[in-house]
Amino acid sequence: MSVSPISRISVILGDITQQQVDAIVNAANPSLLGGGGVDGAIHRAAGPELLEECRALGGCETGEAKITKGYRLPARFVIHTVGPVWRGGGHGEDNLLASCYRKSLALAESHGVTTVAFPAISTGAYGFPLARATLIAIKTVIEHLSHSPAITKVVFVCHGDQALRMYHDAIRELVHEPPYAPENSGGKIQDRDRTSYDITPDIYEQVAGQLRMIEIVHGIRLVNRDALAETIAGVVKDRGQASVATAAINSWVAVNSIHGETEIAEDVIARILRHATGR
Ligand code: APR
Repeated sequence: MSVSPISRISVILGDITQQQVDAIVNAANPSLLGGGGVDGAIHRAAGPELLEECRALGGCETGEAKITKGYRLPARFVIHTVGPVWRGGGHGEDNLLASCYRKSLALAESHGVTTVAFPAISTGAYGFPLARATLIAIKTVIEHLSHSPAITKVVFVCHGDQALRMYHDAIRELVHEPPYAPENSGGKIQDRDRTSYDITPDIYEQVAGQLRMIEIVHGIRLVNRDALAETIAGVVKDRGQASVATAAINSWVAVNSIHGETEIAEDVIARILRHATGR
């Protein structure tokens, strides 16, 4: 069983040039000849050979990605992508930013890369609103990972507390996402007779993924997460009830200021399942 997308994602505070991953992604400009921000940091850490290789690439379109060696960086590769300059949101900026993440991951896979680190593309000099950019980043990467088992780890490297908070907010928003619309119903849950509702096979996957999001957002570790996912998936009737249960767990963690490693007690789980299933 492939590991759920969210279980392969982490969000950290740090410097992308220090990351021990197969490839780091650079927020470059169309010339690919270096610049300030993360572009400058990567070129400084990689050394002059990086610029030499970039010269031969002939530039890069916005939303596209090109790959080079990592030279003096811990990472074997640098994937250079050019994010959109924010011009108010009416010039396809969202799609271009999503394309940066998709094209970078596709390029990583085609080079046998399994672990990738991203900066918050376009949110510095290019002025893309951070909250909007982080939501696009998380959603696009989760979507890509859902059909790509080859990528085993994606790290979002935040260069400041504000970005860290925004990524956590984006994940929190996804935890509370309304019940998934099952692929086979064309997304119209209300059009279906609930008694004949097809429970898609990976309720466990959904619950495990949402529990992982809760761990990331709250910086905790649920020591009984897999068993908890199995218990919930075995009791709830559908994805909607599963989302109600995990949202209740999310609230329980927040209200009780849980931190570090924790095991949710059986009576709490029972109470949450009664709440989610109505019985
Ligand atoms: N590690 C991780 N993230 C970093 C680092 C670092 N060492 N340095 C900067 N960042 C973060 C910034 O805080 C910001 O959140 O990277 C994000 C992207 O900011 P920029 O580097 O300014 O990139 P971008 O907004 O995409 O603008 C690209 O800036 O540097 C030039 O040549 C580049 O013209 C291009 C433009």
